[in-house]
Amino acid sequence: MSTLFTPMTIRGVTLPNRVVVSPLCMYSAIEGLAQPWHFAHLSTFARGKSGLVFAEATAVEAIGRITPQCLGIWSDEHVEALQPITEFINDMGCVAGIQLAHAGRKASTAAPFNGGQPLSKDDPNAWITVAPSAAPVAGNFPTPHELSVDDIKQLVSTFASAAKRSIEAGFKVIEVHGAHGYLLHSFLSPLSNFRTDEYGGNIQNRMRFPLEVVTAVREAVGESVPLFFRISAIDGLDGGWSMDDSITLSNALEKCGIDVIDCSSGGIGGAPRFRIDDEGKPLTKSSARTPGFQVPFADRIQKETNLKAMAVGVIIDPHQAEEIVSSGKAELVALGREIMHDPFWPLRAALELGDDPDYDLWPHQYKWAVDRRAQIAKLNE
Ligand SMILES: Cc1cc2nc3c(=O)[nH]c(=O)nc-3n(C[C@H](O)[C@H](O)[C@H](O)COP(=O)(O)O)c2cc1C
Repeated sequence: MSTLFTPMTIRGVTLPNRVVVSPLCMYSAIEGLAQPWHFAHLSTFARGKSGLVFAEATAVEAIGRITPQCLGIWSDEHVEALQPITEFINDMGCVAGIQLAHAGRKASTAAPFNGGQPLSKDDPNAWITVAPSAAPVAGNFPTPHELSVDDIKQLVSTFASAAKRSIEAGFKVIEVHGAHGYLLHSFLSPLSNFRTDEYGGNIQNRMRFPLEVVTAVREAVGESVPLFFRISAIDGLDGGWSMDDSITLSNALEKCGIDVIDCSSGGIGGAPRFRIDDEGKPLTKSSARTPGFQVPFADRIQKETNLKAMAVGVIIDPHQAEEIVSSGKAELVALGREIMHDPFWPLRAALELGDDPDYDLWPHQYKWAVDRRAQIAKLNE
């Protein structure tokens, strides 16, 4: 049995394997409500037997959406729209997870396939964004509204309500989005947080809001629910958040009830800045995003904290994924683009790694297709 297909228990939840579908924005919701597309998209990964299937960045309030077409979970109606999706995933023996998010100063933009730019203030769908400081992401972004301490306290309870609703919706795992330049990350990074009160300045103060959010989420969902936190392990920009900061944050997150650190990177200055070498130095575009380029971040979390790490970023080959988890560089691997390309990736990986010689993992409804494949394989022997 490979490590990739060895089940893993975190608190009260057992994942059937270590393959995770990374949160993937679909920009296909209406008023934050899940649509047939979301069912089709997420249920496909359950048919493909990914151990844990994360729904995309789901906004805790309407102005926390990246685009007007992003998912949300700020009302009971949103819960009802998500329930059939989680029911299907959980019934397939997989685990449904949700990423709770607030896009902060990177909200109110067009979907990438519509240009991805900030919506003009004259656009009827646009809204005023919020941030730790009144500092725009970049020249083409509007200046956000600086959150007051009361606003921050309110947002902490908004995250907690969203977490409660997530459990009602049938999600068994929650990830708090603390990466990619969105609201929580913009509090953490010295490149976007210029506050002079208890939420800005030194790292302890910059971590305060994310830690308050996680504490409130843990309290809202109880002790049996696994909690993940996605970090941008480094900003990849001069004077930005560093890997050492990520270790400090992870140790603090552990005390607030986080179980797994999901190790991504970049995004504070606009488009994700994934162009880094092993030491976190920026690379040119042509040398960027090589297979496993963010695994060293997960590896450090595994080695230097008590938390489990999830690796993500150009993990494409089953043997590559197996090497990451069997060598202990991460406990889990998350796939994004590769698994959109092949939602049955885990089934193929189980065959390639020799874990499923009789196609037992496949949905029994597909048995005839599987029999045919086995016959052809025999003929070719
Ligand atoms: C279409 C698309 C949508 C994404 N949406 C999210 C998201 O909702 N939340 C998030 O944290 N990351 C998001 N990401 C980043 C992925 O979760 C993942 O970290 C990244 O794509 C790297 O993994 P990959 O190389 O396997 O694609 C998105 C990426 C893509 C390509």
